[in-house]
Amino acid sequence: MQKTQTTSFKSTFEQEVYEGLTAFPKHLSSKYFYDEVGDKLFQDIMNMPEYYLTDCEYDILDANKKAIGELFKKDGEPFSLFELGAGDGKKTKILLKHFVENQIQFDYRPIDISQNALNQLEGSIKKEIPEVEVNTLQGTYFETLRDIGKANGRRKVILFLGSNMGNLLHPQAIEFLKNMRDSIAENDLIFMGLDQKKNPQTILDAYNDKAGITEAFNKNVLTRINGEMDANFDLDKFLHWEVYDPETGTAKSYLVSKEEQMVNIESLELEIRLNAWETIHTEISQKYDDTVVAWLAEQADLKIVTSFTDNKQWFKNYVFKK
Ligand code: AVJ
Repeated sequence: MQKTQTTSFKSTFEQEVYEGLTAFPKHLSSKYFYDEVGDKLFQDIMNMPEYYLTDCEYDILDANKKAIGELFKKDGEPFSLFELGAGDGKKTKILLKHFVENQIQFDYRPIDISQNALNQLEGSIKKEIPEVEVNTLQGTYFETLRDIGKANGRRKVILFLGSNMGNLLHPQAIEFLKNMRDSIAENDLIFMGLDQKKNPQTILDAYNDKAGITEAFNKNVLTRINGEMDANFDLDKFLHWEVYDPETGTAKSYLVSKEEQMVNIESLELEIRLNAWETIHTEISQKYDDTVVAWLAEQADLKIVTSFTDNKQWFKNYVFKK
């Protein structure tokens, strides 16, 4: 039975699933990978040897913490360190520890969509680095950027690590950067990690691990639809497929239907048909170079202050200001 346009959806998730699975070609957003199971799978991904991004960024922060501290503290007046999509804070703690040990004055304001992730992060910082003043903010990037913009007083530094912006196509990334620009003042900084173009095989391997963790992560969106919308996706009837285009720097993830099949999504009163080898596009993980980053910054009217990279130049952290 097809739903009429007058039907109301219980959530944006429901609406986007409906739209994505009735579109051609089919698609689902990677933002729906993340529930408690998905968060755990992503943590497992960060610990895989193939997923070089986390290790590279960790090394960059560790090797450059002094210079980063100097940059952030500026004249020594206290600043607020915001972090978008803070997650488990493993990398950020390098900076927090360094700032505390060097009497750099700041407070830490991690932002995440998941209150659960924020509670865990706050707890672990209280235990490991009790000197840090932590104030958590729960919400989407969009909502919290608006709040950051309204927060007055201290100078702001916004961290956006892990190449999370890579989930956005360039036009959306420019919108996002403009939003960030609007939420900061003259002396504020944005510190952003962006994964770099490199040997295409290295990139493919990072999104195609043998153990199947990335596959499980990709399929978690179907698991969520099964659980939350009373659907009957059979996970074994889908292949996880990764492609990387070295020209555009775009890695794309797909779920490919191994056979012709019908899937029923009760809550949406929707039955969808997948042909054999039909695709559902689920994620993009954009890779960058200095030319593209300079172009994005210019489009968003931001200036690049400096950047830091690792020995292999696989990953880069850029500092932007207005
Ligand atoms: C969290 C968006 C940076 O795209 O590399 C990891 C998510 N997807 N493996 C990425 C992800 C598959 C990750 N980001």
